[in-house]
Formats: sequence, C-alpha cells, structure tokens
Amino acid sequence: MKIKNICCIGAGYVGGPTMSVLAQKNPDIKITVVDINQDRINSWNDENLNDLPIYEPGLKEIVNEARDRNLFFHTDVEKAIDEADMIFISVNTPTKTYGKGKGMAADLKYVELCARQIAKVAKSDKIVVEKSTLPVRTAQAIKNILDNTGSGVKFQILSNPEFLAEGTAIQDLLHPDRVLIGGEESPEGKEAIDALVEIYATWIPKEKILTTNVWSSELSKLVANAFLAQRVSSINAISELCEVTGADVNEVSRAIGMDSRIGPKFLKSSVGFGGSCFQKDILNLVYIAKTYGLHEVADYWEQVIIMNDHQKRRFADNIVSTLYNTVSGKKITFLGWAFKKDTNDTRESAAIYVADALMNEQAEITVYDPKVSEERIYEDLDYLGTRSPEENRKLLKVVKEPYEACNESHAIAILTEWDEFKEYDWQKIYDSVIKPAFIFDGRKLLNPKEIKEIGFEYYAIGS
Ligand code: NAD
Ligand code: UGA
Repeated sequence: MKIKNICCIGAGYVGGPTMSVLAQKNPDIKITVVDINQDRINSWNDENLNDLPIYEPGLKEIVNEARDRNLFFHTDVEKAIDEADMIFISVNTPTKTYGKGKGMAADLKYVELCARQIAKVAKSDKIVVEKSTLPVRTAQAIKNILDNTGSGVKFQILSNPEFLAEGTAIQDLLHPDRVLIGGEESPEGKEAIDALVEIYATWIPKEKILTTNVWSSELSKLVANAFLAQRVSSINAISELCEVTGADVNEVSRAIGMDSRIGPKFLKSSVGFGGSCFQKDILNLVYIAKTYGLHEVADYWEQVIIMNDHQKRRFADNIVSTLYNTVSGKKITFLGWAFKKDTNDTRESAAIYVADALMNEQAEITVYDPKVSEERIYEDLDYLGTRSPEENRKLLKVVKEPYEACNESHAIAILTEWDEFKEYDWQKIYDSVIKPAFIFDGRKLLNPKEIKEIGFEYYAIGS
C-alpha cells in the first residue's frame, strides 16, 4: 500500500517538526497538519519564518522548503481527515487535573476526541497512527471507538511514539537512534506497518526501523523517558553527596560514564529536569503500575520524581540560606527560564519552581532568557496559582538585556544552560552587582576558577 495523503492532528512541538521532516523527505506525499488553535496555525503559515510557533534549530529551513509544496497547515480538521489515507494523532496528553487519577494518569480526552472525529468523518479505510505518548493499551480504546461506527470503514491502529528531544528535534528526526512502529500481527496489521516503514525508509536505514506489537511500542515510550529521567535523578542525588564530601559531580560523571556499560550521556547534574514529558510520563507509568496492583514497581519509579522535586527545592533553599537567611526585598537575577537550552519551551521548567519558592520569601526576581517571552513567564507563574497575577508582576520582572538584568543584583542564579551565558563579560557584571557578589550555577556552566578570580562567591550544583 502506498500512502499518498497524510493528515496530522496537532501542530505542536511534535506534530510540526515531525511532519515538516516527513514532508521534506517524501515530496510525493501530501501532508496536512491541522490544529484547533487558529493562532498556532497562523504562525505556522507566517511568511516570516522567524515567527514560527516553536523555535528549533534547522526547522525554518525545512518548513521553507516543504511548505505549500506538499506541507500544509490549516484548521479544517474534518476535511484533512476525510482526504487522508494515514492519520497521525499528535495531540497533547497532559497529566489529569481532575477526577480519578488526578495528578498522575494521562488525560486522554484530546486523543479520544480525535478518535471520535475520525470515526465521524471517515468514508474510506484509514491507518491511524498514535504519535502522542500514551498509556499502554490505549490503542484498544481507540480501536473500540473506531470499530463501532457502523459505517463499514476499516481502521488499522499503529503506535509510532516520538523520541525527539526539544532543541535538537530536527537532528533527532533526521538521524534517529531508532524509529519504533507497533502494529497488529494480522496480515492487515503487517500491511499497515509496512506502509509506515516505507515512509521512514526514504531517509532512515531499515535496520533502525524497529517493528513490535502495539503494547510493546506504547510501553517502550514511557519506559525510555523513565530511564532517561532516572539517570538525571540518580546523578542529581549524587550531586548532593558531592557537595558535602568534597567530590565533584562532573568528575564523578566522567569517571562512571567512561564505563561503556554506563555510558557518558544524560549524566549532567542540574537544578532538576523539566520539560513537558519526563514528569508526566513517569507519573503515568506509576499510575499504570498502581492500577495493576504493582505497588513496589510504582514506588520505585515515583522516587525519580521525588528526587527531582528535592533538587529544585534545595537549590532555592541554598540561595536563601547563603544570602544570610533572607531574600526579602533582594534582587535576584535569573539567567534562563526555558527548561533546557535552544528551546523557547518552559513547560515544567525548574526555573518556575525555584522562582516560586523565592517569591514566597519575598525576593524580587528579574529574569532574562534569550528565547522565552515575558508573557510566557507570567503565564507559567499564574498557572501555579500561588499568588495573584498582580502579585506575580510586582515581584518578578522580565528584561530583554542580560547586563541590565544583572545590574545591582544581590545574586545571580543560572537556571538554563544557554551557551551565550558563558560568553558574557563577567567582570563587567561583577562591577555592577551588590557585594558580596553571589552566583548560584544550577547548570555548572561557568568556569569556577575564572569566576572566583573575578571576586564572585560561586556555588555550583554538585561541588
Ligand atoms: P503540544 O501541546 O505542543 O501540541 C498539541 C497540539 O494539539 C496543540 O496545538 C493543540 O491545540 C492540538 N490539539 C489538541 N486537541 C486537538 C483536536 N481535537 N484537534 C486538533 N488539534 C488538537 O504537545 P506536544 O509537545 O507536541 O506533544 C504531543 C504529544 O507528543 C504528547 O503526547 C507528548 O507526550 C508527546 N511527545 C512530546 C515530545 C516533546 O518534545 N514535546 C516528544 C515526544 C513525544
Ligand atoms: C525528552 C527525551 O530526551 C526525548 O527522547 C523524548 O522524546 C521527550 O523527552 C518527550 O517524550 O517529550 P526533552 O524533554 O525535550 O526530551 O529534553 P531532554 O534533553 O531529555 O531534557 C529533559 C530535561 O532533563 C531538561 O530539563 C534537561 O536540562 C534535563 N537534563 C538532561 C539534565 O538535567 N541532565 C542531563 O544529563 C540531561
């Protein structure tokens, strides 16, 4: 079966970049990315490629090549579903904020809405691909909805989780470690799997395209994120031990990472992992384990989150205790708000929680981030609901220039590992801040020797 027309529901961090690369590599397939968010679609169609809704290195060049050739963005979801042979579901699956499983389970209402819309509109057979990260066995629920329309239309459900990381999305899509496709073991299932394999095989070596049953594919995505986050929590646990023993966490990471069985990646100690997925997906895994009565399994994975919360809290606590146990009325500068460098995404960023803790102590925070907008930062704080929007705007300011952000500050905290922070004129910054001059480096980004020689009191995670 040769796919000619693809629809992707959800033009977010995953749908947008993934479909852009798919379109670039498959010029003979028409790909339509649809979303209910009109503003987002307008931004994807913006003539100024610097105004795309998400920032990813290399993305605008690819959009520029494929858009209006075989890549289209619009809001007419039904038309796109009707025309497509293959439909990707790439909508958000946040943690539930209400009802059963509140605070843990994945909220599948957006996915279910997609399934119902597909069921309503489809007049010809379709392959439905789960691109969103979903609890194991979700395909069954989607199948139940699709198979009960009475229209006689046949559906095949595939699981094709996405492993891209933000900030490196395009490189990850162009050169993935693997592509995972789960499908039914029937002849129709195999045919559907083959159709999707062919699309990826236009640029990815076949040996990297892994096919499994649906449940293994769905579960592998949650497990991959849980293992990655576990490494960060593990090294962050060790960072606290380093701080009290005189060991240096970077040296420990290097020493253990050279063991090929452990490997060097994902051992960078930090102020805590953020991002839209690690916490959500582990909570989801914990919830699934609990649902099956596997309490030891649930507790084991929950510890990864507990450690991460601890890491964020102790970073804030250390700032307060070092500044003589009070930050009330003191200006504290945040360099970075995004959850990692090279992205404008702030979802679950450690910066939000550290700021909130310091604002509870009446600190006055000034934020500079090269890519995150003022509006986004206030939305993040307002969403917490800790204090009124007016109070948030009174206690926290956002500035567009780093030297201005640092001027007359009592302390500087580095929350995101943006490369440009390393290049600043730190002598100039030292001259402009209140003495003693403190830096709290949540990313171990700066050169301790140089910074201390200038005169700063320098505290870095893990040393
Ligand atoms: P996102 O919030 O950026 O995008 C989702 C989009 O879906 C939104 O624009 C929303 O308006 C749209 N949407 C929701 N319901 C819709 C509907 N019924 N019809 C049309 N559009 C609808 O989310 P994201 O970061 O792209 O994540 C999507 C999924 O991919 C999640 O399950 C996530 O766990 C997973 N994932 C994310 C990443 C990542 O790096 N962000 C990586 C791998 C997997
Ligand atoms: C992560 C996974 O890496 C992707 O494979 C996955 O597809 C994605 O989640 C998802 O499902 O959403 P992402 O969250 O975009 O990608 O970014 P990561 O590079 O994994 O970083 C996550 C967080 O961990 C960041 O806050 C980062 O600063 C932190 N981190 C990462 C560390 O503190 N130390 C490290 O060594 C690595």
